[in-house]
Amino acid sequence: MRLVLLGPPGAGKGTQAKRLEQRYGIVQIATGDMLRAEVAAGSPIGLKAKAVMEAGQLVSDAILIAMLEARIARPDCARGFILDGFPRTVKQAEALDAMLAQHRMRLDAVIELQVNDAALVERIAGRFTCKTCGEGYHDTFKPPKTAGTCDRCGGHEFTRRPDDTRETVAARLVAYHNQTAPILPYYAATGRLMSVDGMVEMDQVTTALVAILDQLPAG
Ligand code: AP5
Repeated sequence: MRLVLLGPPGAGKGTQAKRLEQRYGIVQIATGDMLRAEVAAGSPIGLKAKAVMEAGQLVSDAILIAMLEARIARPDCARGFILDGFPRTVKQAEALDAMLAQHRMRLDAVIELQVNDAALVERIAGRFTCKTCGEGYHDTFKPPKTAGTCDRCGGHEFTRRPDDTRETVAARLVAYHNQTAPILPYYAATGRLMSVDGMVEMDQVTTALVAILDQLPAG
């Protein structure tokens, strides 16, 4: 299964992609995580991307398209993948279609998580992650069962993303509406776009996604 999850920052793409990865046994490809790894490694891509990401802008299409093409060629993508954060421009969407067509493949589903902008700042400002295993949490919506201890690995150190400030979230939302939202008509025009209410509780969002994905034709 090859799936794209679309939605603004904080819509729940990463949260849901991880759940679908476990359920269906296909890999999550999160371009934001890939870029953060490049930044942490101090690679040439990371050096270019760091300031752009911290300003809430989009990194160049050329970098992202090359990165994605290399990633989906890896063996763990043979059974399929869940794209979280890509495509983010019409140019990226067209490049994705072209690279899949080259391998006689296509997307099975493009699902938009529909959310209100007003809720997103609260979601993002409250988000934190276990430094050891990467499990995601939220101050209000998903705190660890024991404060200060990761439910999954027992770690005690947590991190917050540098682009999760209220100011940067506002810039990320502008980038979403100006550059990413035009993807929606691109996919709608070819009958591939479906949507799910992303404002309900996380488990309900997962149930709605699974209901769509379980209906897809096999293969
Ligand atoms: P990226 O890492 O992709 O960030 P994003 O799209 O802004 O999305 P987020 O990770 O912030 O949100 P999410 O939708 O995954 O929400 P989450 O599940 O965490 O990109 C970062 C930057 O990298 C970009 O700004 C850009 O610079 C660059 N970049 C990346 N890809 C690029 C590309 N293709 N082209 C160009 N540049 C690119 O949920 C958020 C919080 O809400 C969590 O705490 C969660 O617990 C909580 N939550 C989730 N669902 C619910 C719910 N239903 N109810 C209540 N709380 C919920």
